[in-house]
Amino acid sequence: MSGDPTKDLADVRTWTTDALAGRLADLDEAYHRRANSPVPDAVYDRIKGELLRRDPKHPALAAVGAPVDGEPGDKVEHAQAMLSLDKCTTLDEFWAWYRGCLAGATDRANSPRLDDEARAWSQTPLGALVALPKIDGLACSLRYDAAGRLVRAATRGDGRIGEDVTANARKLSTVVQQLPANRFAGGLEVRGEIYLPLSRFAEVADTYANPRNLAAGTLKAKDNPAIDPGWLAFFAYDLLGAQLPTESSKLEALAGMGFAVPSWRRVCAPEAQAAFDGFDAARPADEFEADGIVLRLDDCGLAQRLGVTSHHPRGAIAWKYAASADTTTLQSVHWSVARTGTITPVALVAPVSLSGATVTRATLHNLSNLRRLGLAPGDVVEIVRRGGVIPHVERVVTPSAAPRCAPPTHCPSCGTATRVVARDDGKGGKAVEILMCGDPANCVTARQRSLLHYCQALELEGFGDKVVETLIDQGLCDNPADLYELTAEDLRPLPRFGEILVGNLLGQITRTRRVELPAFLVALGIAALGKSTAQLLASRGDLAAVRAMTLDDIAQLHSLGDKTAAAIVSGLRDKAGLVDALLRHVEVVQPAAAEMAGAGPMAGEVVVFTGALSSMGRRDAQQLVVRLGGIAGDSVTAETTLLVVGGDELDAAEPSSKLKKARKLQAAGGAIRIERADAFFFRVQGSP
Ligand code: IVH
Repeated sequence: MSGDPTKDLADVRTWTTDALAGRLADLDEAYHRRANSPVPDAVYDRIKGELLRRDPKHPALAAVGAPVDGEPGDKVEHAQAMLSLDKCTTLDEFWAWYRGCLAGATDRANSPRLDDEARAWSQTPLGALVALPKIDGLACSLRYDAAGRLVRAATRGDGRIGEDVTANARKLSTVVQQLPANRFAGGLEVRGEIYLPLSRFAEVADTYANPRNLAAGTLKAKDNPAIDPGWLAFFAYDLLGAQLPTESSKLEALAGMGFAVPSWRRVCAPEAQAAFDGFDAARPADEFEADGIVLRLDDCGLAQRLGVTSHHPRGAIAWKYAASADTTTLQSVHWSVARTGTITPVALVAPVSLSGATVTRATLHNLSNLRRLGLAPGDVVEIVRRGGVIPHVERVVTPSAAPRCAPPTHCPSCGTATRVVARDDGKGGKAVEILMCGDPANCVTARQRSLLHYCQALELEGFGDKVVETLIDQGLCDNPADLYELTAEDLRPLPRFGEILVGNLLGQITRTRRVELPAFLVALGIAALGKSTAQLLASRGDLAAVRAMTLDDIAQLHSLGDKTAAAIVSGLRDKAGLVDALLRHVEVVQPAAAEMAGAGPMAGEVVVFTGALSSMGRRDAQQLVVRLGGIAGDSVTAETTLLVVGGDELDAAEPSSKLKKARKLQAAGGAIRIERADAFFFRVQGSP
């Protein structure tokens, strides 16, 4: 058809029925398949109305209405090429681009030194920029007809020709199917990015390597997509066909139409660095991966005047973040036992900087994944760190000659034989093999208890049941020494670990990098080693001296008793590995003399209790002594300075062995005093 189509179509009543039907079919095809309206709506309505009048049951009418989706994979020609973006990585490069825009705006052939001028220009509306995250997904074009109906969704493809993905795109709740109202006769095109939200990806991260490829595969799938296409989401960042004057007005219009729009800011050039830093800092909480920010001239007229290269528009630039994927060397595979007994492989790698953070460990998810990767120490591996997800090993780049890692036959935590179980991923995908401890109940409780005990003993605020559970589950902490290896990057991706919590937890850990010996001994979790005993031991020397003490040394010390002494010696021996590991991170210091000998009123006192104490329990009484600067012993020795006697034991016919011993020491000229409990409590705390 040539010339003005409306003219030819002026009087549709003269057309044959077949001509009407044929033309209607052509127009429907153009309209729905290519989002193209060759005639004004009024003409289309006239053709359709005439056919309806003549033959209301004509098959051509039945086809009218519902858009016909193309087949996935059908080629779609873009009305306007989908270009790429120019890139920069530094503030200087950003300014160079910005000065170039100014040079273009003022029709200058080359820009010598425009620094001051560029700064002045940046404060004008023409120099304004829009900044928004550059989402690492798949570019997608959505075409809407004049009635505001979504008629075509297409991938970017090579920029000119993309692939039809309409059927799957309709399943995204963030892809608007029907625009509220459309005043644009030629239809509208919305462009944006389709991505897989990271919380969704986290559910399948042990089966799929990267969210972008998974999103692409799912969107393009004809049938049997790997995941529900409804999991995908769309962020709109461009609007074509509405002739709006600025990028900001386009973003506002898109939001008004019901699209999700990435958070954006209108900035002037000197604020670009702050915008970059701000978006970067917000990344851990984002549901999408961003590989940088996009800066665009806000003024569309100017951007259009600057034009495009074959590759990118001149009025926009992508300022890229530091790489979040890099290669490094695998040092070893650590097997971490979770609370449920699941044993998860973790890659320990040579430090590598990813998105500005140093990474030394990366998850390997499960046994199947380890086998799929086929890892061995010395392999050069690619590590990827995505926002919201713990760094993981993506692939082996260059294998070493070493034998591939095999799973442990015995639980690294409790020594029970391991077993391999197949676990369904619950999403219809293939089952994955999981390594399990043979006796999870006992293995796990013990570990959790010891970690909790350590945290409580050192008063690590915030390390309650839930946090400790999560740390064990995520394979971040097998024992207290692992606490000191934790980094913000380890903690941030964990569920409900906000920036403030992460900061507080790490602050608490830092505080315990220097610990006084008695607290350190108590924190080890040796049953016989409570606060007062630890104080006693600490009064005899430093940690090395305490570790070197024999059964006799300890038993003689305030006559702790053979049983207690034996328990302490074997406890310290059992915990030798933990103590060594802790000493790599923790400085154990002697308590200040004032505290050890006690700056308080009981300084220098070594107090032992006997008999029934009516006002408080024995433990509380001992703690009172310690608080007041004294030492609380469990049995009477030559060093005891005071025996506090409860009940009516002083007058009893058969005194306790402690009382007998104290009297014997007194008779031999010892310095030990004997005091009634009520008198003692009245003296030290003002009430009996
Ligand atoms: S503006 C000429 N804004 O980045 C293209 N693009 O490297 C103008 N992208 O294929 C695009 N997030 O799909 C723009 N906020 C954003 C973006 C964004 C991601 C993608 C886009 C394009 C690629 C260019």
